[in-house]
Amino acid sequence: MLALTYCSAMFLGIDIGTSAVKVICTDGTHISASATADLTLQSPHSGWSEQSPAAWWDATCTALAEIGKTMPLSQVTAIGLSGQMHGAVLLDAGLNVLRPAILWNDSRSTQDCTRLQEVLPEIGTIAGVLPLPGFTAPKLMWVAREEPGIHARIAHVLLPKDYIGLRLHGELAMDRSDAAGTLWLDQAARAWSGRVAEASATALDWLPRLADGHEVVGQVTDDAASRTGLPAGIPIVAGGGDAATGAVSLGATEANRGFISLGTSGQLFVAGDAYHPNPARFVHAFAHTVPNRWYQMAAMLNGARPIAWLAGQLGISAGDVVVLAESADPTRVPIFLPYLTGERSPHGDPHIRAGYFGLEDSTDRAALCRAVVEAVAFTFADAVQSFGDTITDLSHLAALGGGSRSPFLLQLIANATGTRIGRTAGSDAGPALGAARLAACGMGAMTLSDLGQQPEIADWFDPVTTPVLDDRLRRYRALYGALKDLR
Ligand code: XUL
Repeated sequence: MLALTYCSAMFLGIDIGTSAVKVICTDGTHISASATADLTLQSPHSGWSEQSPAAWWDATCTALAEIGKTMPLSQVTAIGLSGQMHGAVLLDAGLNVLRPAILWNDSRSTQDCTRLQEVLPEIGTIAGVLPLPGFTAPKLMWVAREEPGIHARIAHVLLPKDYIGLRLHGELAMDRSDAAGTLWLDQAARAWSGRVAEASATALDWLPRLADGHEVVGQVTDDAASRTGLPAGIPIVAGGGDAATGAVSLGATEANRGFISLGTSGQLFVAGDAYHPNPARFVHAFAHTVPNRWYQMAAMLNGARPIAWLAGQLGISAGDVVVLAESADPTRVPIFLPYLTGERSPHGDPHIRAGYFGLEDSTDRAALCRAVVEAVAFTFADAVQSFGDTITDLSHLAALGGGSRSPFLLQLIANATGTRIGRTAGSDAGPALGAARLAACGMGAMTLSDLGQQPEIADWFDPVTTPVLDDRLRRYRALYGALKDLR
């Protein structure tokens, strides 16, 4: 944990994830309490991924009530928000939710992306990435096309954490790192782009006011206080998208700090002090949540999710999948393509799907598990490759997220990427901790340069040359190339 000694104040970080809402409480030195409340995901049609904003709010209240059992919520000084990025929350003029939120891993708006790029060919340099269905702008085009009655009633568009912000403080606001993932942000100017909005069936006045992540955007209202037990009137800072708040938890606000995140999604993230778009390989160049900083990110929709998927199918835990994987004979393992929901980086391919190749009569559960765990490592090898030379300047990549609990997986990633991986204590608290640190910064308990302090690395994973794995990575890449046109 970070060695900060600034205050005895208590800062809450609330992270609206995809599988759970996580709340942590920290004084800046220790995490004194944490709680999670699970969420489910709805997929009413192939390629659709939705959640109800009311379910986020209920889960937030549940997790806060859990925290309240271990510490009095009256001691909370300020709150920071973090959340899954890109999800479209559509509100009418009375601030009522118009339909379930369309999430970051939803692929229904593929044809709208093609159209957006045709209408605005320079979008990759304005928005820092080429249009893909995960981003928010093409979702609005889909709604205009398929649900015109709902589109006609839209008065405001928010992202998931900002909807929870609205429920807590009553204001319409969004930080720049989350705004970056909508496609509506002009990344260089760090302001809304009227051109992108116009090209994507969006009125500029539907978009909320922009803030930096440590900026106070509102105070807990009396209503929210009586629902949650939080003190009325305490400040709430804008926070950040989960990639950026994860970065804040690791000091990756300064240039050339990088990390990988192993959650439902996966990210390779490198912070910088200038805007460098690289749209060709679907590397995202986005505004960071702190001023004068940007980041480059490869975003993998499937992250560590295939491990949870296989665990669900086999009726065992994700931890058991990794244990079984470790026991398999590495020379008799099929190849698994992990693209359960299509893939963003580096393929930009919403149509590809997952699959095993090379099953034999003798293939057992352990081999099936190992193929899936290796595939998670291979997605990071592809991500590192898509960054080109920029990554070679980094001393190491820190690891974040639930998947970082597995030394076996981290060693496979080090071997497959040829990069040194470091794990901090508490690496799975990432985004919520980053949000709480932004709240501490907003209250003057930390400075912006304090946010760049890096927590100590507790465990190192050095790359080892493994010809069997290298050969399997080569075949994994060839398999995607061979299958990508089959739908
Ligand atoms: C980032 C991304 C995911 C989501 C969900 O581009 O799509 O990280 O934020 O975690």
